[in-house]
Amino acid sequence: MDNRPIGVFDSGLGGLTAVKELELALPKESIVYFGDTGRVPYGTRSRETVRTYAKQDMDFLIGQNVKAVLAACGTVSSTAADIGASLPVPYFDVVVPTAKAAAAATKNGKIGIIGTSATIHSDSYRQALLAIHSELEVYPQACPLFVPLVENAFISPQEEITRLVAERYLAPIREKGVDTLILGCTHYPIISATIGSVMGKSVTLIDSGREAALALASALQEQGLLCDGNVPRKASYFVTDDPEGFTSVAGLFLGHSIEGRTERINIEKI
Ligand code: DGL
Repeated sequence: MDNRPIGVFDSGLGGLTAVKELELALPKESIVYFGDTGRVPYGTRSRETVRTYAKQDMDFLIGQNVKAVLAACGTVSSTAADIGASLPVPYFDVVVPTAKAAAAATKNGKIGIIGTSATIHSDSYRQALLAIHSELEVYPQACPLFVPLVENAFISPQEEITRLVAERYLAPIREKGVDTLILGCTHYPIISATIGSVMGKSVTLIDSGREAALALASALQEQGLLCDGNVPRKASYFVTDDPEGFTSVAGLFLGHSIEGRTERINIEKI
């Protein structure tokens, strides 16, 4: 048993889609969430910059005495997994659990992957899929405008601008006849209604935050690292920009409003 919290981080709000799934899977676990809202987006930055940010983010969570770290960010997962692997606590990310779920879901062997530019250029999901089944046909597509649209709450299925952008990005993958689409960035489940309606009902969407949360939950269970359930659950949130901006939109990601205080920190001085 381990009563310490689980640490989860992302460049911004997107990782809350993983927190939502963690709350469902492990309702008694405490969580420390870090969203680097002052430096979002990560996905358009260089690999070196993302790795520097990722190291700072992970060090912050380790300083919060977490028992495990979840990189709820496709971009960090794709570029800094080795940094995560060197942490003193178990590290989890989105790539392998998501690839496994997609490989299990596809019937025609054609899988689309959407993510940030950094994620798609890293080739992480494609390699993870081909390591599972080398004969899979994989179609990657960077969607750099999705993160700013989501961070600015252009998320309703009626939002024409988001639909137009989705049409432009997704049409080439749809034309390949994929039956499964990896939402390789944790921001994307928030616009899954728009993405799903552009792709069509027959395409299964795989939510990377959800798959990572489920993988983490079963690993903690197997390793005997769950809490004993006798300590009241606590959720703490830390951001690097205006906490109000974060709390006002966070409910859309979590499915409920944020309990307690959101604290602003200076990540470069940690
Ligand atoms: N949620 C992050 C991801 O999965 C967003 C990346 C970004 O900040 O551009 O990649």
